[in-house]
Amino acid sequence: MTSLIAPHGGTLVDRRVAGESAVELRARAATLPRVVLNDRQGSDFEMIATGGLSPLTGYMDQEAYRSVVETLHLPGGKLAWTIPIVLAPDDSVSASVSVGQELALYYEDGSTLAGTMTVREIYPLEKEREAERVYRTTDGNHPGVAAVYAQGSRALAGDIHAVALPPYSDFPGERLIPAATRAGFADRGWQTVVAFQTRNPIHRAHEYIIRCAMEIVDGLLLHPLVGATKGDDIPADVRMECYKVLLENYFPADRVLLAVNPAAMRYAGPSEAIFHALVRKNYGCTHFIVGRDHAGVGNYYGTYDAQKIFDDFDATAIDIVPLKFEHSFWSIRDGGMATSKTSKATPDERISLSGTKVREMLRAGQEPPVEFTRPEVARILIRSMQAAG
Ligand code: ADX
Repeated sequence: MTSLIAPHGGTLVDRRVAGESAVELRARAATLPRVVLNDRQGSDFEMIATGGLSPLTGYMDQEAYRSVVETLHLPGGKLAWTIPIVLAPDDSVSASVSVGQELALYYEDGSTLAGTMTVREIYPLEKEREAERVYRTTDGNHPGVAAVYAQGSRALAGDIHAVALPPYSDFPGERLIPAATRAGFADRGWQTVVAFQTRNPIHRAHEYIIRCAMEIVDGLLLHPLVGATKGDDIPADVRMECYKVLLENYFPADRVLLAVNPAAMRYAGPSEAIFHALVRKNYGCTHFIVGRDHAGVGNYYGTYDAQKIFDDFDATAIDIVPLKFEHSFWSIRDGGMATSKTSKATPDERISLSGTKVREMLRAGQEPPVEFTRPEVARILIRSMQAAG
């Protein structure tokens, strides 16, 4: 009998209603004011409903929002939490809502009922302060900050009741909720599981740090983020093809579980590294990989800021082990992947290609060197880039 790691706060939240209660809720929802969630609010809804954001049971109230922004902890100060989870619809919508009112929440398509929420509180967001504390910049060009600024000015707080998850048609086999990844780990007899967050096609540096981590645990949860990303990131379906071909060709099937993380990307660097780790704890993981510039964008964060931030928290406030990896590269001197921790390779002896250079090569139908990308992965990327024109 294996015992898995406890979720954040101790209990795996499940806000889904089923059976007779769901029938009643649907009937009542038809009479309630409608609020349509955008893709980000919808993925937060799904993650609250299924426990990916345990211990949250709804969208944050002002006390929780302020506590997260000011202290990077939930109220009470014992549990780390670094990203506000708020529902701030357009002001024209929030202006028509009052405290105590029950709302019917619909997914982005406007026709799929997500569930209901009784509004406990309506409060103003402090967006610049949030940007400064969570994103470490108030620059509206930062894609995560831009998403904060694009929200309405007031947030609606309240616990949710869910009758459906978003009507996805993609990745049916990989949309595993936390209870399902946990069951998957238990079936495999895994007690220690490392999670790998990624939003990019997989290259050799990713593969190297994954393999290093896999040496010390029972299994890997390959957990690409497939929620909203910025426009120039590679689309999730292409990335999934890359992960699958890599697993099929190079990894032992019984040591890896591939599932998708429905969250939106915030590009919040250090704050998001903590958040990513906590979410993966909820999915049942004991270890979490943090490499170079984790969840970073542009030059907003230092290369290792997302690792250093873990030192600012009590281990008990996070309770999942971060596995921190240096910038890794192919070393010509060593004939293999390495980092400056493990190799004497001089800068000239390291194969490193900029993202721009790699894109240029792929667009021109040229495979990057095998030291950078596996040929099977390169071929998928070339095909998709050329199809996109
Ligand atoms: S992220 O936004 O999800 O962090 P990406 O998919 O590129 O972007 O990275 C996934 C993980 O791999 C992150 O932990 C990141 O720090 C790590 N990583 C990416 N490239 C390297 C590299 N060359 N060396 C070490 N770690 C890396």
